[in-house]
Amino acid sequence: MKTIEIHGYAIVSDDDRIADASGATPDSLRNDADWAYFQAELDRSALTVLGRLGHEANRNPKRRLRMVLSSSALGLERREDAWWWNPAMMSWADAIDAVLPEGGRIAVPGGRRVFDLFLDIGYDAFHLTRAEGVRIPRGVALFSACERGEAAEEVLAKRGLNSGPRQVIDESGPVSLRVWRR
Ligand SMILES: NC(=O)c1ccc[n+]([C@@H]2O[C@H](COP(=O)([O-])OP(=O)(O)OC[C@H]3O[C@@H](n4cnc5c(N)ncnc54)[C@H](OP(=O)(O)O)[C@@H]3O)[C@@H](O)[C@H]2O)c1
Repeated sequence: MKTIEIHGYAIVSDDDRIADASGATPDSLRNDADWAYFQAELDRSALTVLGRLGHEANRNPKRRLRMVLSSSALGLERREDAWWWNPAMMSWADAIDAVLPEGGRIAVPGGRRVFDLFLDIGYDAFHLTRAEGVRIPRGVALFSACERGEAAEEVLAKRGLNSGPRQVIDESGPVSLRVWRR
């Protein structure tokens, strides 16, 4: 039987923000140790699923297989640079069957609407990195529920995920990582 494993990845501030009020990633959320961890995880994944803006902002020099969410896609389209998927026109089950017929591990690096969508589809794991001591007032929240005052931890716990131990990946800050698993 084919197995699909869905892993989310985000680096957030103490107030669960992934970007600043303008929608850009501030330097306070850029961290070399987190980036190295994320790249190694992408190397273990069969597919990266991300929003159009993230796709356009991050080149893909390793030509990793990507699926880009966009309202411009007619269901599911194979374009030169990636698969393009519009969830309003095709279900996740049908889309992933076409893209990964053999199954595999899937990395989901956001942004917020993509993180929200996969809460409903179901994460098998969520790799939550925190830049401790950083706050980003009026920034873009990890999940829309965080904008309504719920902590990221509560959102993940409600969806049946359990936190692993806090691992410090960079003493300066510090920057820590918790992997939440089903
Ligand atoms: N800290 C972190 O871990 C982290 C993670 C991710 C992103 N970020 C940062 O967060 C900022 C915000 O990213 P973002 O959320 O604006 O961009 P994004 O998710 O990369 O792209 C948003 C676009 O994706 C498409 N999309 C997303 N969900 C969709 C859905 N359910 N159905 C159809 N299309 C969908 C839409 O494209 P169309 O307009 O083509 O319809 C939408 O405009 C960026 O600065 C990014 O670098 C940070």
